[in-house]
Amino acid sequence: MKQPIFIQLHRPNETGVRAELLRGLSRASAHTSPKYLYDALGSRLFEAITELPEYYPTRTEAAIFARHGDAMATHAPRHATLVDLGAGNCAKASRLFGHLAPSRYVAVDISVDFLRSALDNLQRHHPALDMVGVGADFSAGLVLPSEAGNPQTDARVLFYPGSSIGNFAPDEALVFLRSVRATCGLHPDSGLLIGVDLVKATVELEAAYDDALGVTAAFNRNLLLHINRLCGTNFALPDWRHVALFNVAESRIEMHLEATRAVTVRWADGTRRFAQGERIHTENSYKWTLESFSALLRQAGFQNSTHWTDPEQRFAVFWTGSHG
Ligand code: AVJ
Repeated sequence: MKQPIFIQLHRPNETGVRAELLRGLSRASAHTSPKYLYDALGSRLFEAITELPEYYPTRTEAAIFARHGDAMATHAPRHATLVDLGAGNCAKASRLFGHLAPSRYVAVDISVDFLRSALDNLQRHHPALDMVGVGADFSAGLVLPSEAGNPQTDARVLFYPGSSIGNFAPDEALVFLRSVRATCGLHPDSGLLIGVDLVKATVELEAAYDDALGVTAAFNRNLLLHINRLCGTNFALPDWRHVALFNVAESRIEMHLEATRAVTVRWADGTRRFAQGERIHTENSYKWTLESFSALLRQAGFQNSTHWTDPEQRFAVFWTGSHG
């Protein structure tokens, strides 16, 4: 049996993280990066979100892969290197193995520690598959180590499911997709398989991000506990409520934390006063149309995109070649 290879490309440094967070919180319009939603508890709360009746993206995407996996494999190359961006527990990619029969699986996530048990377990089910776990923050651009294979000669399928692309504003999404296209390498069969959440009625979108059970509220408010640990701040949960709204003009769900009364947040060498009703902007989740996302892929240099959707067109999976 083969063994997975693990590589940590860089580790986020504590001082930089603290400075970035406090800078965002100190701005006139306070904001934080959505990546800080995912501490250990936040990751588990997100998994719970994916099981909520209101949160349709995860199960809708899974149904699209189940129904159209064979069709996808007539576009995406078989026996290629499958590069999984934000692999987590590697479950989504492993469901593609039967369709794509990859020759190598490269799982990328922010922390290689997150990937160890998932890849060790997966290797037992696929003893002959070359597996590489890469710890990297690819949100700022994607560079793979040599262990991920040769981009000149290997066909690569880049896999970016879950509508994670929604966290990028359109201009950032374009920059990111161009770096993904570069990572596809030079093989003419290479390309990108990507899940995208689609624009729909505001009531349906807002319910998905403000569920009746309050799991998304807990996911959002847990950010404050994470920030308290990272920055030594004294955020108190009763002072903050979850707000989720669909901004039609920007085509994005916005998550905020709103002060329920006037509060002063303190840390070692600073303070930030929040008036009652003032908000911290914690996440954007952009929604695309089939047309706007096809155009974005074209602008990023991808060719010949095809897509599959569910019957209600809530969600889409796109395949697009990097060369055509
Ligand atoms: C992981 C970014 C795809 O935007 O739907 C879910 C995160 N935030 N509920 C999304 C999220 C609140 C999720 N993504």
